Amino acid sequence: MSKILIQGPAVITMEGPGRIYEDGEIAVSGDSIVSAGPRGSAPEGFVARKVIDGSGMVALPGLVNCHTHAAMTLLRSYADDMPLMKWLNEKIWPVENRLRPEDVYWGTMLCCLEMIKSGTTAFADMYFEMDRVARAVEQSGMRASLARGMVGVGPDARKAIDESLSFVREWHGAAGGRIKVMFGPHAPYTCPPEYLQQVTELAADYNVGIHIHVAETKDEVEQIHANYHKSPVKHLQATGLFKVPVLAAHCVHVDEEDIEILAAEKVKVAHCPESNMKLASGISPVTGLLKAGVLVGLGTDGAASNNNLDLLEEMRTAALLQKVATGDPMVLPAYETLQMATWKGAQALGLSGVGQLKAGMKADVILVNYQRPHLCPRHDLVADLVYAAQSADVETVIINGEVVMEDRTVLTMDEEEVMAGARHCALRLVEKE
Ligand code: NI
Repeated sequence: MSKILIQGPAVITMEGPGRIYEDGEIAVSGDSIVSAGPRGSAPEGFVARKVIDGSGMVALPGLVNCHTHAAMTLLRSYADDMPLMKWLNEKIWPVENRLRPEDVYWGTMLCCLEMIKSGTTAFADMYFEMDRVARAVEQSGMRASLARGMVGVGPDARKAIDESLSFVREWHGAAGGRIKVMFGPHAPYTCPPEYLQQVTELAADYNVGIHIHVAETKDEVEQIHANYHKSPVKHLQATGLFKVPVLAAHCVHVDEEDIEILAAEKVKVAHCPESNMKLASGISPVTGLLKAGVLVGLGTDGAASNNNLDLLEEMRTAALLQKVATGDPMVLPAYETLQMATWKGAQALGLSGVGQLKAGMKADVILVNYQRPHLCPRHDLVADLVYAAQSADVETVIINGEVVMEDRTVLTMDEEEVMAGARHCALRLVEKE
């Protein structure tokens, strides 16, 4: 069993704004944290097999990316500056139709590599060829909640259900508990109500959640209104979808009644500000959602619409965008933003015991090197992290008690091999146009 002692970092526990230890210490045994507190707080007799010098570093829970499509790293900077439906119809979907299982594997490996190097330890994915996604996650050492994307019309509708069922049977709880499975009906405009009902029943049978895109664009709201005379949120409520735990990506175009429903039904929201900005979808009323008591996490969305998977950057964007949207510099302060990227994100993914540094929690810990000009002089560690830190400042990453990156070297993957594999797949995909 691995026993790790991290000595001397400042520890941001995320147990509350005041719970920061300037000269801290974290003891890890197996997959869990034994203690996190001031230096010398490790239990008596704790003998570490590995001691990590954390001086000059800040330790915090690993970041959680609540919405992405991992293999879309292959389409990073392939089609930009286009409206969503034109972008999907003319560029993204035609290439995705040509994707082979190995493309999904290498694209997901690249995604995991990028996320580990920027401090993300867990993510929610919605895609296809999910066996390959799961294998990449297993190999990378990351934690993930994976959903087979399901479109409820056409020949793929039944296939998506069959594949989701075999996927949940084979992978839910796999990789030492690091992999969880959700059902992934794509969106209310691509899945008819009967299909959503069928998927909800299956999710309830298997005791898993649902990951779905909701109210991403104005067009979607208009289309759902035209077909069902309701907002997307009310329409989904009427189908009974919210009787299982739901992770709703985007929720950009939601009104006050929708927000009340989301709060009452305990729907979790994945806020993806950079993707929403890039596709000009709009600004999610995050301040209103939080005020109503909705649990909101942060997501990057796929690398084709972001174009990176950097959650430090996403935090900064989220905080700044809410200030601009509301005209109030006091909304979404740094600590609240960091909550969205840590324990709230973990809860949105349905992960228990993840997202805070305290005894008994899973050991998902990152060390950020603060000995940098842009992080000096350390007036406020959390504000530094949200407003000034860069992904390259992340030095060491521990997931489920395993060191997956040390001194910026990823130990679970061969970085050159992953980039070469992904590049090879991406070039072949685009060549065929
Ligand atoms: Ni998405």
